[in-house]
Amino acid sequence: MALCRIVFVLVLFGLVSAKLKQYDGFTLYEVVVENTEQEMVFNKLESELNLDVWSRATPEQSGRILVSKSEKTEFENELSTAGIKHTIVVENMEELIELERKQLSEADEMSAGINMYGIAIDTMHTYDQVNSFLEQLANNYTSVNLLSQGTTFEGRPINYIRISSSNFTDYNKPVVFIQSLIQAREWISLPVALHAINKLVTNITDSDLVNTIDWIILPIANPDGYHYSSTISRLWTKNRRAVGSECVGVNINRNFDINFGAHSSSNICSDNYHGPDTESEIETRSIRDILILHQGRIKLFLNLQSFGSHILYGFGTGGLPGNALILNFLGVQMTSIINAFNSSKDNDYTVGNIAAVVAAESGNVMDYATLVRNVPYSYTIKLPSYGNSGSVSDNGYIVDPSYFTQAAEETWEAIKYCARFVRDNPF
Ligand SMILES: *[C@@H]1O[C@H](CO)[C@@H](O)[C@H](O)[C@H]1NC(C)=O
Ligand SMILES: *[C@@H]1O[C@H](CO)[C@@H](O)[C@H](O)[C@H]1NC(C)=O
Ligand SMILES: *[C@@H]1O[C@H](CO)[C@@H](O)[C@H](O)[C@H]1NC(C)=O
Ligand SMILES: *[C@@H]1O[C@H](CO)[C@@H](O)[C@H](O)[C@H]1NC(C)=O
Repeated sequence: MALCRIVFVLVLFGLVSAKLKQYDGFTLYEVVVENTEQEMVFNKLESELNLDVWSRATPEQSGRILVSKSEKTEFENELSTAGIKHTIVVENMEELIELERKQLSEADEMSAGINMYGIAIDTMHTYDQVNSFLEQLANNYTSVNLLSQGTTFEGRPINYIRISSSNFTDYNKPVVFIQSLIQAREWISLPVALHAINKLVTNITDSDLVNTIDWIILPIANPDGYHYSSTISRLWTKNRRAVGSECVGVNINRNFDINFGAHSSSNICSDNYHGPDTESEIETRSIRDILILHQGRIKLFLNLQSFGSHILYGFGTGGLPGNALILNFLGVQMTSIINAFNSSKDNDYTVGNIAAVVAAESGNVMDYATLVRNVPYSYTIKLPSYGNSGSVSDNGYIVDPSYFTQAAEETWEAIKYCARFVRDNPF
């Protein structure tokens, strides 16, 4: 009996330490390519080693690349041979993730959780906690409806809320659709979406936004991926469908029926894997169906992601939407609002076409909303990482929770401006 218990404890301990050590020895590099030749060498290396590119290196901007322990030597050698400059940003990713875990558990202890004033935005919440919050809102407020659109591979309903003073029956009102966590590891997007919910339901300070606009908010667009990222593998980004024998998961934001496969990967093991076919994933079809349900009324679609501090518009292939000038103008307004909101830290937001500013991508929800569902204003917001040595993209996806409130509040200011703009300037 006692032996049994010891074995049990050992097994548990083994599981826990396996989880804790997932990224031991992984290193985050900053890579500087000086010309297109070096860029091409680097891109080749990326697919050969199947590197985790957090942000792309171009002659205009340095990139952030996460390299596993076993590939570090080859990576460094190849870069040195090609004369590509690289420096270490985070020596051991595991240590950073452990620090984040500690910061989050401290934040959790201080946090107010869920109460009549809304959900606390200074910490992270699990899928179940977010659902419980959405349920409470639907029970407590007539303006809120909780809806489900599909169930994931692992059995989690894809839940979203509608916020409306007229139960979505007034077709003269524009609809604003906000979603977060389409990429599982981009955690900071969740508190930003939840803050928008608080400001529209539990702590209303701008009543015109509720009375004249209908809102759809989908806080966890990738429930299985987010659950996996929060419990097993922090840097997981895809969903969790068993698509092949070697690897799991599809990148939902490459799976939409728009330029499918043009700038994504057919390698099942890649984070950029676009899936076996367009709309093969339930998460993709769910977002598609919400867009279809309100097609014609959705004037603004905001896909909250991280990182880099960018307001981005289409198209992922590099071409521009017909209203690119207005999209850019509105984006500039949003960036100046954010930059002015809190001048103490990392307020160098930029605006532009996603392919020009970040990287080309295909099958993404932002372009799908514009081109297939006729949403006139569709943006991806790459939230900040609030790096601590002055550089915006320092720790990338891993953000100190003490910045969540700032991110949520400054982004909300921009969302408010944008929502009023689309209301007052019918497209
Ligand atoms: C909903 O109402 C219950 C009962 O009054 C309350 O305890 C809870 O905090 C409320 N939750 C929200 C999010 O409003
Ligand atoms: C609001 O509309 C939904 C259908 O879209 C319906 O199920 C619900 O009962 C309505 N709520 C009220 C209060 O009329
Ligand atoms: C309600 O919102 C206002 C303005 O954003 C803020 O100052 C206040 O702290 C919020 N109240 C609660 C209880 O969160
Ligand atoms: C700016 O952000 C910092 C850190 O997040 C905070 O301490 C400070 O009060 C903020 N200032 C303003 C003006 O919001």
